[in-house]
Amino acid sequence: MQLNHNKQLINLISVSITSTIRQVMQTIDKGGLGFALLIENETEKFVGVVTDGDIRRALLQGYGLESNISTIPRPESKTGHITISSEQITSLFSEPVRVIPLLDDDGKVADLALFDKRVRLPVAEPSLGEKELSYVTECVLTGWVSSAGKFVTRFEEMFAEFCNTKYAIATSNGTTALHLALLALDIGVGDEVIVPTLSFIATANAVTYTGAKPVFVDSEWETWNIDPNLIEQAITPKTKAIIPVHLYGHPANMDLILDISKRHNLAVIEDAAEAHGAKYKGQPVGGIGEIGVFSFYGNKIITTGEGGMVVTNDSEIAKKIRILRGHGMSPERRYWHPVLGYNYRMTNLQAALGVGQMERIDEIIEAKLRIAERYEKGFSSIKGLNLAPRQPWAKSVFWLYSILVNEDEFGLSRGQLVTILQEKGIETRPLFIPIHQQPVYHQNVQDNYPVANQLGKIGLSLPSAASLQLEDINKVINCFQNF
Ligand SMILES: Cc1ncc(COP(=O)(O)O)c(C=O)c1O
Repeated sequence: MQLNHNKQLINLISVSITSTIRQVMQTIDKGGLGFALLIENETEKFVGVVTDGDIRRALLQGYGLESNISTIPRPESKTGHITISSEQITSLFSEPVRVIPLLDDDGKVADLALFDKRVRLPVAEPSLGEKELSYVTECVLTGWVSSAGKFVTRFEEMFAEFCNTKYAIATSNGTTALHLALLALDIGVGDEVIVPTLSFIATANAVTYTGAKPVFVDSEWETWNIDPNLIEQAITPKTKAIIPVHLYGHPANMDLILDISKRHNLAVIEDAAEAHGAKYKGQPVGGIGEIGVFSFYGNKIITTGEGGMVVTNDSEIAKKIRILRGHGMSPERRYWHPVLGYNYRMTNLQAALGVGQMERIDEIIEAKLRIAERYEKGFSSIKGLNLAPRQPWAKSVFWLYSILVNEDEFGLSRGQLVTILQEKGIETRPLFIPIHQQPVYHQNVQDNYPVANQLGKIGLSLPSAASLQLEDINKVINCFQNF
Protein backbone atom coordinates (compact mmCIF):
# COMPACT_ATOMS: atom_id res chain seq x y z
CA MET A 1 0.00 0.00 0.00
CA GLN A 2 1.50 3.32 -1.06
CA LEU A 3 0.90 6.06 1.51
CA ASN A 4 3.16 8.61 -0.10
CA HIS A 5 5.14 9.79 2.87
CA ASN A 6 7.90 11.32 0.92
CA LYS A 7 11.48 10.19 1.07
CA GLN A 8 12.50 13.57 2.45
CA LEU A 9 10.41 13.05 5.59
CA ILE A 10 11.71 9.51 6.04
CA ASN A 11 15.31 10.77 5.77
CA LEU A 12 14.55 13.58 8.20
CA ILE A 13 13.43 11.19 10.93
CA SER A 14 15.98 8.43 10.23
CA VAL A 15 18.96 8.14 12.53
CA SER A 16 21.75 5.61 12.91
CA ILE A 17 21.42 2.86 15.53
CA THR A 18 24.88 3.86 16.79
CA SER A 19 23.69 7.37 17.73
CA THR A 20 23.47 8.76 21.24
CA ILE A 21 20.18 9.58 22.95
CA ARG A 22 20.97 13.27 22.43
CA GLN A 23 21.35 12.81 18.65
CA VAL A 24 18.11 10.86 18.46
CA MET A 25 16.26 13.52 20.45
CA GLN A 26 17.48 16.12 17.96
CA THR A 27 16.18 14.01 15.09
CA ILE A 28 12.78 13.54 16.76
CA ASP A 29 12.61 17.27 17.35
CA LYS A 30 13.34 18.03 13.69
CA GLY A 31 10.64 15.70 12.41
CA GLY A 32 7.99 16.90 14.85
CA LEU A 33 6.23 13.50 14.75
CA GLY A 34 7.30 12.31 18.19
CA PHE A 35 9.43 9.41 16.96
CA ALA A 36 12.54 8.52 14.92
CA LEU A 37 13.44 5.55 12.72
CA LEU A 38 16.59 3.69 13.77
CA ILE A 39 18.55 2.33 10.84
CA GLU A 40 21.74 0.33 10.27
CA ASN A 41 24.73 2.42 9.28
CA GLU A 42 25.95 0.81 6.07
CA THR A 43 22.89 -0.98 4.75
CA GLU A 44 20.26 1.62 5.85
CA LYS A 45 18.11 -1.34 6.86
CA PHE A 46 15.34 -0.58 9.35
CA VAL A 47 16.11 -1.59 12.95
CA GLY A 48 13.27 -0.10 15.00
CA VAL A 49 11.13 2.86 16.00
CA VAL A 50 12.05 4.94 19.02
CA THR A 51 9.53 7.38 20.45
CA ASP A 52 10.03 10.38 22.70
CA GLY A 53 8.18 8.34 25.35
CA ASP A 54 10.84 5.57 25.12
CA ILE A 55 13.52 8.21 25.64
CA ARG A 56 11.73 9.85 28.54
CA ARG A 57 11.41 6.49 30.29
CA ALA A 58 15.10 5.70 29.64
CA LEU A 59 16.22 9.04 31.09
CA LEU A 60 14.08 8.43 34.16
CA GLN A 61 15.72 5.02 34.56
CA GLY A 62 19.14 6.70 34.67
CA TYR A 63 20.36 6.54 31.07
CA GLY A 64 22.31 9.66 30.11
CA LEU A 65 22.07 11.86 27.03
CA GLU A 66 25.31 10.33 25.77
CA SER A 67 24.13 6.71 26.22
CA ASN A 68 23.86 4.75 23.02
CA ILE A 69 20.30 4.51 21.74
CA SER A 70 20.72 0.77 21.04
CA THR A 71 21.07 0.12 24.79
CA ILE A 72 17.72 1.54 25.95
CA PRO A 73 14.64 -0.64 26.36
CA ARG A 74 11.95 -0.07 23.73
CA PRO A 75 9.03 -2.17 22.58
CA GLU A 76 9.45 -4.32 19.50
CA SER A 77 8.43 -2.43 16.37
CA LYS A 78 5.73 -3.70 14.04
CA THR A 79 6.46 -3.44 10.35
CA GLY A 80 4.77 -4.39 7.09
CA HIS A 81 5.92 -4.97 3.55
CA ILE A 82 5.24 -2.10 1.18
CA THR A 83 2.61 -4.23 -0.57
CA ILE A 84 0.54 -4.72 2.62
CA SER A 85 -3.20 -3.97 2.42
CA SER A 86 -4.89 -1.22 4.42
CA GLU A 87 -6.84 -3.85 6.42
CA GLN A 88 -3.60 -5.55 7.43
CA ILE A 89 -2.11 -2.21 8.48
CA THR A 90 -5.15 -1.46 10.61
CA SER A 91 -4.81 -4.80 12.41
CA LEU A 92 -1.21 -3.95 13.36
CA PHE A 93 -2.07 -0.70 15.17
CA SER A 94 -2.66 -0.75 18.92
CA GLU A 95 -2.51 1.83 21.70
CA PRO A 96 1.31 1.86 21.95
CA VAL A 97 1.91 1.19 18.23
CA ARG A 98 1.05 4.35 16.33
CA VAL A 99 3.46 4.01 13.42
CA ILE A 100 4.08 1.09 11.05
CA PRO A 101 7.15 1.45 8.82
CA LEU A 102 6.53 -0.18 5.46
CA LEU A 103 9.68 -1.87 4.18
CA ASP A 104 10.89 -2.66 0.70
CA ASP A 105 12.51 -5.97 -0.33
CA ASP A 106 15.87 -4.76 1.06
CA GLY A 107 14.39 -4.07 4.48
CA LYS A 108 14.63 -0.30 4.04
CA VAL A 109 11.79 2.05 5.02
CA ALA A 110 9.86 2.91 1.86
CA ASP A 111 6.78 4.46 3.46
CA LEU A 112 5.07 5.05 6.80
CA ALA A 113 1.58 4.22 8.03
CA LEU A 114 0.66 6.62 10.83
CA PHE A 115 -2.28 6.04 13.14
CA ASP A 116 -2.56 9.65 13.92
CA LYS A 117 -5.36 12.00 13.18
CA ARG A 118 -2.65 14.61 13.44
CA VAL A 119 -1.42 13.85 9.93
CA ARG A 120 -3.61 16.89 9.31
CA LEU A 121 -3.26 19.78 11.73
CA PRO A 122 -6.57 21.66 11.72
CA VAL A 123 -7.05 25.40 12.08
CA ALA A 124 -10.01 24.58 14.32
CA GLU A 125 -12.06 21.59 15.38
CA PRO A 126 -14.53 20.97 18.20
CA SER A 127 -13.17 19.62 21.46
CA LEU A 128 -15.95 17.35 22.66
CA GLY A 129 -15.80 14.96 25.58
CA GLU A 130 -17.76 12.51 27.67
CA LYS A 131 -19.86 15.18 29.38
CA GLU A 132 -21.22 16.39 26.07
CA LEU A 133 -22.00 12.83 25.01
CA SER A 134 -23.73 12.06 28.27
CA TYR A 135 -25.90 15.23 28.25
CA VAL A 136 -26.90 14.82 24.61
CA THR A 137 -27.74 11.17 25.32
CA GLU A 138 -29.91 12.33 28.19
CA CYS A 139 -31.89 14.54 25.77
CA VAL A 140 -32.37 11.61 23.41
CA LEU A 141 -33.39 9.20 26.14
CA THR A 142 -35.85 11.63 27.73
CA GLY A 143 -37.19 12.98 24.44
CA TRP A 144 -36.35 16.61 25.32
CA VAL A 145 -34.73 17.42 22.00
CA SER A 146 -36.48 20.63 21.01
CA SER A 147 -36.19 24.12 22.47
CA ALA A 148 -37.97 23.35 25.74
CA GLY A 149 -35.80 21.59 28.30
CA LYS A 150 -33.57 22.08 31.28
CA PHE A 151 -30.28 22.35 29.40
CA VAL A 152 -31.30 25.61 27.68
CA THR A 153 -31.91 27.34 31.03
CA ARG A 154 -28.80 25.80 32.56
CA PHE A 155 -26.64 26.88 29.61
CA GLU A 156 -28.02 30.42 29.80
CA GLU A 157 -27.34 30.63 33.55
CA MET A 158 -23.83 29.29 33.18
CA PHE A 159 -23.06 31.66 30.33
CA ALA A 160 -24.41 34.74 32.12
CA GLU A 161 -22.20 33.92 35.09
CA PHE A 162 -19.21 33.38 32.79
CA CYS A 163 -19.71 36.82 31.20
CA ASN A 164 -20.54 38.44 34.50
CA THR A 165 -23.88 39.65 33.10
CA LYS A 166 -27.36 39.44 34.59
CA TYR A 167 -28.99 37.85 31.54
CA ALA A 168 -28.10 35.43 28.77
CA ILE A 169 -30.50 34.33 26.04
CA ALA A 170 -29.56 31.34 23.89
CA THR A 171 -30.28 31.54 20.15
CA SER A 172 -30.08 29.34 17.08
CA ASN A 173 -26.75 30.87 15.96
CA GLY A 174 -24.53 33.92 16.34
CA THR A 175 -26.08 35.75 13.40
CA THR A 176 -29.59 35.48 14.85
CA ALA A 177 -28.15 36.66 18.20
CA LEU A 178 -26.83 39.78 16.42
CA HIS A 179 -30.13 40.28 14.60
CA LEU A 180 -32.07 40.07 17.87
CA ALA A 181 -29.68 42.50 19.57
CA LEU A 182 -30.28 45.08 16.84
CA LEU A 183 -34.07 44.53 16.88
CA ALA A 184 -34.14 44.92 20.65
CA LEU A 185 -32.62 48.37 20.17
CA ASP A 186 -35.34 49.22 17.60
CA ILE A 187 -32.79 49.57 14.82
CA GLY A 188 -34.35 49.43 11.38
CA VAL A 189 -34.97 51.15 8.07
CA GLY A 190 -33.28 54.55 7.81
CA ASP A 191 -30.73 53.84 10.56
CA GLU A 192 -26.99 53.34 10.29
CA VAL A 193 -24.79 51.05 12.33
CA ILE A 194 -21.01 51.31 12.45
CA VAL A 195 -19.13 48.03 11.94
CA PRO A 196 -15.51 47.14 11.27
CA THR A 197 -14.99 46.17 7.66
CA LEU A 198 -12.62 43.41 8.76
CA SER A 199 -14.99 40.85 10.21
CA PHE A 200 -17.03 37.84 9.22
CA ILE A 201 -19.84 39.00 6.94
CA ALA A 202 -22.51 38.12 9.55
CA THR A 203 -21.67 41.32 11.47
CA ALA A 204 -22.87 43.45 8.54
CA ASN A 205 -25.58 41.06 7.36
CA ALA A 206 -27.44 41.24 10.67
CA VAL A 207 -27.58 45.04 10.28
CA THR A 208 -28.86 44.69 6.72
CA TYR A 209 -31.59 42.24 7.82
CA THR A 210 -33.11 45.00 9.96
CA GLY A 211 -33.28 47.39 7.00
CA ALA A 212 -30.52 49.56 8.47
CA LYS A 213 -27.24 50.29 6.69
CA PRO A 214 -23.87 48.99 7.85
CA VAL A 215 -21.24 51.74 7.72
CA PHE A 216 -17.74 50.35 7.47
CA VAL A 217 -14.73 51.55 9.43
CA ASP A 218 -11.10 50.57 8.93
CA SER A 219 -9.04 48.48 11.38
CA GLU A 220 -6.11 49.46 13.60
CA TRP A 221 -2.76 47.64 13.42
CA GLU A 222 -2.50 47.25 17.20
CA THR A 223 -5.48 44.91 17.62
CA TRP A 224 -6.75 44.29 14.04
CA ASN A 225 -10.09 45.55 15.40
CA ILE A 226 -12.13 48.63 14.52
CA ASP A 227 -9.96 51.76 14.72
CA PRO A 228 -11.64 53.96 17.37
CA ASN A 229 -9.93 57.04 15.92
CA LEU A 230 -11.90 56.62 12.69
CA ILE A 231 -15.32 56.04 14.23
CA GLU A 232 -16.35 59.64 14.79
CA GLN A 233 -15.94 60.63 11.17
CA ALA A 234 -18.33 57.80 10.20
CA ILE A 235 -21.09 59.03 12.54
CA THR A 236 -24.07 60.78 10.96
CA PRO A 237 -27.46 61.83 12.39
CA LYS A 238 -28.72 58.39 11.31
CA THR A 239 -26.17 56.42 13.34
CA LYS A 240 -27.77 54.36 16.10
CA ALA A 241 -25.10 51.89 17.24
CA ILE A 242 -21.53 50.69 16.98
CA ILE A 243 -20.66 46.98 16.74
CA PRO A 244 -17.05 46.44 17.77
CA VAL A 245 -15.90 42.90 16.95
CA HIS A 246 -13.34 41.19 19.19
CA LEU A 247 -11.67 39.65 16.17
CA TYR A 248 -9.80 36.35 16.47
CA GLY A 249 -10.30 36.53 20.24
CA HIS A 250 -8.53 39.85 20.91
CA PRO A 251 -10.68 42.51 22.60
CA ALA A 252 -11.37 45.77 20.82
CA ASN A 253 -10.24 49.06 22.33
CA MET A 254 -13.43 49.45 24.40
CA ASP A 255 -12.72 52.57 26.51
CA LEU A 256 -12.33 54.74 23.43
CA ILE A 257 -15.39 53.16 21.79
CA LEU A 258 -17.56 53.60 24.89
CA ASP A 259 -16.42 57.20 25.23
CA ILE A 260 -17.51 57.94 21.64
CA SER A 261 -20.79 56.08 22.11
CA LYS A 262 -21.63 58.11 25.22
CA ARG A 263 -20.82 61.43 23.58
CA HIS A 264 -23.00 60.60 20.57
CA ASN A 265 -25.67 58.67 22.42
CA LEU A 266 -25.09 55.42 20.52
CA ALA A 267 -25.62 51.86 21.68
CA VAL A 268 -22.70 49.43 21.69
CA ILE A 269 -23.27 45.81 20.68
CA GLU A 270 -20.15 43.72 21.20
CA ASP A 271 -19.70 41.01 18.58
CA ALA A 272 -17.84 38.53 20.75
CA ALA A 273 -18.57 35.59 18.42
CA GLU A 274 -14.87 34.66 18.43
CA ALA A 275 -13.90 35.75 21.93
CA HIS A 276 -15.53 33.67 24.69
CA GLY A 277 -13.55 34.32 27.86
CA ALA A 278 -11.48 37.21 26.49
CA LYS A 279 -11.10 40.13 28.88
CA TYR A 280 -10.82 43.86 28.39
CA LYS A 281 -8.95 45.38 31.35
CA GLY A 282 -10.05 42.42 33.47
CA GLN A 283 -13.70 42.50 32.41
CA PRO A 284 -15.13 39.66 30.31
CA VAL A 285 -16.06 40.78 26.81
CA GLY A 286 -19.75 40.72 25.93
CA GLY A 287 -20.81 42.44 29.14
CA ILE A 288 -19.07 45.76 28.48
CA GLY A 289 -21.48 47.38 26.00
CA GLU A 290 -25.30 47.38 26.20
CA ILE A 291 -25.45 43.95 24.55
CA GLY A 292 -22.93 41.24 23.71
CA VAL A 293 -23.33 38.35 21.27
CA PHE A 294 -21.53 35.04 20.90
CA SER A 295 -21.43 32.23 18.36
CA PHE A 296 -21.15 28.51 19.09
CA TYR A 297 -20.48 27.37 15.54
CA GLY A 298 -18.33 24.22 15.31
CA ASN A 299 -15.05 26.09 14.94
CA LYS A 300 -15.61 28.50 17.83
CA ILE A 301 -13.95 28.45 21.30
CA ILE A 302 -16.86 26.29 22.48
CA THR A 303 -19.56 24.85 20.27
CA THR A 304 -23.14 23.70 20.27
CA GLY A 305 -22.97 22.66 16.60
CA GLU A 306 -24.77 25.81 15.55
CA GLY A 307 -25.78 28.23 18.27
CA GLY A 308 -25.54 31.70 19.68
CA MET A 309 -26.06 33.77 22.83
CA VAL A 310 -27.07 37.31 23.64
CA VAL A 311 -25.88 38.71 26.99
CA THR A 312 -26.94 41.94 28.68
CA ASN A 313 -27.42 43.59 32.05
CA ASP A 314 -30.58 45.36 30.91
CA SER A 315 -33.76 43.56 32.02
CA GLU A 316 -35.94 45.30 29.39
CA ILE A 317 -33.61 44.32 26.56
CA ALA A 318 -33.43 40.74 27.85
CA LYS A 319 -37.22 40.51 28.01
CA LYS A 320 -37.61 41.90 24.50
CA ILE A 321 -35.06 39.49 23.09
CA ARG A 322 -36.80 36.49 24.66
CA ILE A 323 -40.08 37.56 23.09
CA LEU A 324 -38.57 38.24 19.65
CA ARG A 325 -36.70 34.91 19.79
CA GLY A 326 -39.97 32.98 20.22
CA HIS A 327 -42.21 34.34 17.44
CA GLY A 328 -43.06 37.49 19.40
CA MET A 329 -45.37 35.51 21.68
CA SER A 330 -46.55 37.32 24.81
CA PRO A 331 -45.07 35.85 28.03
CA GLU A 332 -48.47 36.49 29.66
CA ARG A 333 -50.69 34.80 27.08
CA ARG A 334 -49.88 31.72 25.02
CA TYR A 335 -50.30 31.98 21.24
CA TRP A 336 -50.83 35.73 21.48
CA HIS A 337 -48.35 37.68 19.31
CA PRO A 338 -48.24 41.46 19.87
CA VAL A 339 -45.08 41.90 17.76
CA LEU A 340 -43.45 40.29 14.75
CA GLY A 341 -41.01 37.76 16.13
CA TYR A 342 -38.81 34.98 14.82
CA ASN A 343 -38.03 31.37 15.56
CA TYR A 344 -34.44 31.91 16.67
CA ARG A 345 -34.52 29.45 19.58
CA MET A 346 -31.72 27.10 20.59
CA THR A 347 -32.64 23.45 21.04
CA ASN A 348 -32.15 21.47 24.23
CA LEU A 349 -29.82 19.18 22.24
CA GLN A 350 -27.60 22.13 21.34
CA ALA A 351 -27.71 23.46 24.89
CA ALA A 352 -26.78 20.01 26.24
CA LEU A 353 -23.57 20.25 24.24
CA GLY A 354 -23.18 23.81 25.51
CA VAL A 355 -23.46 22.82 29.17
CA GLY A 356 -20.84 20.11 28.66
CA GLN A 357 -18.60 22.64 26.93
CA MET A 358 -19.07 25.24 29.69
CA GLU A 359 -17.86 22.69 32.23
CA ARG A 360 -14.61 22.51 30.22
CA ILE A 361 -14.31 26.06 28.89
CA ASP A 362 -11.45 27.08 31.20
CA GLU A 363 -9.44 24.06 30.11
CA ILE A 364 -10.14 24.83 26.43
CA ILE A 365 -9.07 28.46 26.81
CA GLU A 366 -5.91 27.37 28.70
CA ALA A 367 -5.04 25.16 25.73
CA LYS A 368 -5.54 28.10 23.34
CA LEU A 369 -3.23 30.26 25.44
CA ARG A 370 -0.55 27.54 25.56
CA ILE A 371 -0.72 27.21 21.77
CA ALA A 372 -0.37 30.99 21.34
CA GLU A 373 2.62 31.14 23.70
CA ARG A 374 4.32 28.34 21.81
CA TYR A 375 3.82 30.12 18.48
CA GLU A 376 5.07 33.39 19.94
CA LYS A 377 8.23 31.73 21.24
CA GLY A 378 8.84 29.76 18.06
CA PHE A 379 8.28 32.70 15.73
CA SER A 380 10.17 35.30 17.76
CA SER A 381 13.37 34.94 15.75
CA ILE A 382 11.74 34.60 12.31
CA LYS A 383 11.98 37.70 10.16
CA GLY A 384 9.01 38.88 8.14
CA LEU A 385 6.23 37.61 10.41
CA ASN A 386 3.99 39.82 12.53
CA LEU A 387 2.49 37.90 15.41
CA ALA A 388 -1.14 37.91 16.56
CA PRO A 389 -2.00 41.05 18.56
CA ARG A 390 -1.45 40.90 22.32
CA GLN A 391 -2.06 44.23 24.01
CA PRO A 392 -1.01 44.59 27.67
CA TRP A 393 -4.53 45.66 28.66
CA ALA A 394 -6.16 42.68 26.97
CA LYS A 395 -6.57 39.00 27.61
CA SER A 396 -6.93 37.52 24.16
CA VAL A 397 -8.19 33.96 23.88
CA PHE A 398 -6.46 33.52 20.50
CA TRP A 399 -9.46 31.89 18.86
CA LEU A 400 -7.39 31.27 15.73
CA TYR A 401 -3.71 32.05 16.13
CA SER A 402 -3.05 34.34 13.17
CA ILE A 403 0.02 35.99 11.74
CA LEU A 404 0.89 38.50 9.04
CA VAL A 405 3.26 37.34 6.31
CA ASN A 406 5.41 40.18 4.97
CA GLU A 407 6.57 38.71 1.67
CA ASP A 408 9.62 40.95 1.12
CA GLU A 409 11.19 40.12 4.46
CA PHE A 410 9.91 36.57 4.86
CA GLY A 411 10.86 35.49 1.36
CA LEU A 412 7.57 33.77 0.51
CA SER A 413 4.15 35.17 -0.27
CA ARG A 414 1.17 34.09 1.82
CA GLY A 415 -0.04 31.96 -1.10
CA GLN A 416 3.30 30.18 -1.48
CA LEU A 417 3.42 29.57 2.27
CA VAL A 418 -0.10 28.12 2.28
CA THR A 419 0.81 25.68 -0.50
CA ILE A 420 3.93 24.44 1.26
CA LEU A 421 2.15 24.04 4.59
CA GLN A 422 -0.75 22.26 2.91
CA GLU A 423 1.65 19.68 1.44
CA LYS A 424 2.79 18.95 4.98
CA GLY A 425 -0.77 18.46 6.23
CA ILE A 426 -0.82 21.85 7.94
CA GLU A 427 -4.14 23.56 7.43
CA THR A 428 -4.31 27.35 7.25
CA ARG A 429 -7.02 29.92 6.65
CA PRO A 430 -6.67 33.41 5.22
CA LEU A 431 -7.91 36.30 7.35
CA PHE A 432 -11.39 37.54 6.45
CA ILE A 433 -11.80 39.44 3.21
CA PRO A 434 -12.96 42.90 4.35
CA ILE A 435 -16.73 43.22 4.05
CA HIS A 436 -16.63 46.37 1.90
CA GLN A 437 -14.92 44.24 -0.78
CA GLN A 438 -17.69 41.63 -0.79
CA PRO A 439 -19.89 41.69 -3.89
CA VAL A 440 -23.06 42.15 -1.85
CA TYR A 441 -21.70 45.34 -0.24
CA HIS A 442 -19.19 46.58 -2.77
CA GLN A 443 -21.48 48.95 -4.66
CA ASN A 444 -21.23 52.60 -3.62
CA VAL A 445 -18.50 51.87 -1.04
CA GLN A 446 -15.28 53.82 -1.50
CA ASP A 447 -12.32 51.57 -0.90
CA ASN A 448 -10.48 53.66 1.67
CA TYR A 449 -9.68 50.94 4.19
CA PRO A 450 -5.92 50.49 3.81
CA VAL A 451 -5.29 48.63 7.09
CA ALA A 452 -8.13 46.13 6.72
CA ASN A 453 -7.20 45.58 3.07
CA GLN A 454 -3.60 44.83 3.98
CA LEU A 455 -4.56 42.60 6.95
CA GLY A 456 -6.98 40.70 4.74
CA LYS A 457 -4.27 40.28 2.12
CA ILE A 458 -1.36 39.05 4.24
CA GLY A 459 -3.03 37.59 7.33
CA LEU A 460 -3.07 33.85 7.90
CA SER A 461 -4.61 31.72 10.64
CA LEU A 462 -2.63 28.67 11.72
CA PRO A 463 -3.63 25.39 13.39
CA SER A 464 -5.19 26.48 16.67
CA ALA A 465 -7.56 23.68 17.72
CA ALA A 466 -7.51 23.22 21.50
CA SER A 467 -7.01 19.49 20.96
CA LEU A 468 -3.60 20.05 19.31
CA GLN A 469 -0.58 18.96 21.29
CA LEU A 470 2.41 21.26 21.70
CA GLU A 471 4.41 18.86 19.51
CA ASP A 472 1.89 19.56 16.74
CA ILE A 473 2.56 23.27 17.11
CA ASN A 474 6.30 22.53 17.11
CA LYS A 475 5.79 20.80 13.79
CA VAL A 476 4.30 23.99 12.34
CA ILE A 477 7.06 26.12 13.83
CA ASN A 478 9.74 23.74 12.50
CA CYS A 479 8.36 24.17 9.00
CA PHE A 480 8.72 27.93 9.30
CA GLN A 481 12.21 27.60 10.75
CA ASN A 482 13.24 25.37 7.86
CA PHE A 483 12.19 27.90 5.22
C1 LIG B 1 -17.28 37.95 14.09
C2 LIG B 1 -18.43 37.04 13.87
N1 LIG B 1 -19.67 37.53 13.98
C3 LIG B 1 -20.76 36.74 13.81
C4 LIG B 1 -20.62 35.41 13.50
C5 LIG B 1 -21.87 34.63 13.23
O1 LIG B 1 -22.02 33.50 14.01
P1 LIG B 1 -22.77 32.20 13.44
O2 LIG B 1 -21.91 31.57 12.45
O3 LIG B 1 -22.98 31.38 14.67
O4 LIG B 1 -24.07 32.67 12.87
C6 LIG B 1 -19.35 34.86 13.39
C7 LIG B 1 -19.09 33.45 13.15
O5 LIG B 1 -19.32 32.68 12.40
C8 LIG B 1 -18.22 35.69 13.55
O6 LIG B 1 -16.99 35.21 13.41
